[in-house]
Amino acid sequence: MSSQAERFDEAARREFAERGRTVVRRGTLLRHPVYTRVLHWAVAIFFVLSLLTGFAIYSPWLFHWIAPLFGGGPTTRFLHPWFGLAFDLFFFFQFINWFAPMAWTAADRRWMRRIGAYVKNEEKVEAEDVGFFNAGQKLYFWAIVISAVLFLVTGLPMWFDDVVPRWLVALSYVVHDLAALVMLAGFIVHVYEGTAAQPGTFRSMTDGTVTEEWAWTHHPAWYEEVTGRDPREDYERARRRQLGRERAAEAWEREQDLRERGGAVAPEEPPGP
Ligand code: HEM
Repeated sequence: MSSQAERFDEAARREFAERGRTVVRRGTLLRHPVYTRVLHWAVAIFFVLSLLTGFAIYSPWLFHWIAPLFGGGPTTRFLHPWFGLAFDLFFFFQFINWFAPMAWTAADRRWMRRIGAYVKNEEKVEAEDVGFFNAGQKLYFWAIVISAVLFLVTGLPMWFDDVVPRWLVALSYVVHDLAALVMLAGFIVHVYEGTAAQPGTFRSMTDGTVTEEWAWTHHPAWYEEVTGRDPREDYERARRRQLGRERAAEAWEREQDLRERGGAVAPEEPPGP
């Protein structure tokens, strides 16, 4: 990434940090600053709008209930390329913003070999070398980069189909629709991973922070980098504390049980002198 792009990104981060606010409470870490969050949601909004209008144009069955939401068929057709351009534009800035942490490393190759265990949710905590993003997140990012370029280079001939050869328009339709299907599948997995599959992830894109426990569980190398502490040690300490709490709760329940039973037998005892 050129230093000019890096400088632009840093200036934008500073500017947004001054205007917005991220409160990092005790026991939490800053994950995504305001600028990253604004870009992410702008990308997400224009992606969904492009997807909806695109599917309405693609399928007559969907068309008849989606198109009215956008003011009818002709307006839907008119809006779709503009939504697509806005998606590409915001994603371009997101690309600059995330280029560095999305670089592929040896740790990602190792993660790919364990992908089965990740999908089946077999590991309680990620391997120690998993940094700010894991390889699955990086793959999603690079798939969007490729799709964003494909959407643009195939979208333009479809938009200006009277000035380009027919074969190019026909080919563009096929590639454009395939890229959209890949993106739809990725989007479904992404929303699931960012919400239900990993509780505590969604807040990183709303208030910008995550708990330390979330960080050492899903991104131990990043946790170590920002806190200087050993993620395994903190995990073991938290586990011991949790075990202690569970034992104390069990002991308390047993005690309550005994007291209640004691209370129940009390009336049967012969009254004292
Ligand atoms: C609308 C529902 C969406 C939700 C709930 C959502 C949620 C999230 C969350 C919580 C993160 C942070 C993950 C982390 O810090 O580890 C994230 C990251 C990201 N989001 Fe989204 N997102 C949505 C839509 C989108 C869309 C439409 C795109 C692009 C087409 C997108 C692209 C990304 C990328 C590239 C990342 C970084 C890599 C990753 O975490 O997979 N997101 N998203």
